Amino acid sequence: MMKIQIITLFPEMFEGVLNTSMLRKAQQKKLVDYQLINLRDFGLGRRKTVDDTPYGGGDGMVLRPEPLVEAIEAAKQKTKNKKQKTILMTPRGQKFNQAKARQLAKLDNLILVCGHYEGYDERITKFIDEQISIGDYVLTGGELPAMVVIDAVTRLIPGVLGGETSAEVESFNQPGVIEYPHYTRPEDFRGMKVPKVLLSGDHAKIAKWRKSRQKRVL
Ligand code: ADE
Repeated sequence: MMKIQIITLFPEMFEGVLNTSMLRKAQQKKLVDYQLINLRDFGLGRRKTVDDTPYGGGDGMVLRPEPLVEAIEAAKQKTKNKKQKTILMTPRGQKFNQAKARQLAKLDNLILVCGHYEGYDERITKFIDEQISIGDYVLTGGELPAMVVIDAVTRLIPGVLGGETSAEVESFNQPGVIEYPHYTRPEDFRGMKVPKVLLSGDHAKIAKWRKSRQKRVL
């Protein structure tokens, strides 16, 4: 079973996403285990402080290194697996794509670190294996990017998808392939007809049509 640990100041943001649809099913099937680690629990002093003002001045707050690094170390302690990676979500990271998702899906344990506020103390990067960005835009925190990575990786874990589809259909449903367009009832929707080939019953022709319309991502 793959274990994904998420270090965040806002664990509640994940509840809906992790407990819905395929991600929920993947947990129920014991194919993946998500563990939310609240960075606040590693805060300093009675007030559980996690941030401070930036050296050199400037707007906003910066996450201090001690709570983040202690949270990472606590996460690693719980999972002394060999195939483990600690990943920091940051717009400065390497761009996320399907090839990266496939690579991460092979690991036993992923630790995802979500930054927040104006950023994190740069010295934490010593404790990070990889930095990942989900695109060239800036979000308020690493939580949504972490959810994107979790979703893309979880669906690649063997057994998470399928079960309801035949092997024949699944041959189109390989990771890295964006599926052909789908149609269901009604046959005529406001004047828009389902492509005739799909109603033909000619499986070879249907397969050829679908193949011609599917897309491949890296
Ligand atoms: N944190 C803020 N913006 C981000 C992005 N685009 N990718 C990853 N982490 C982020």
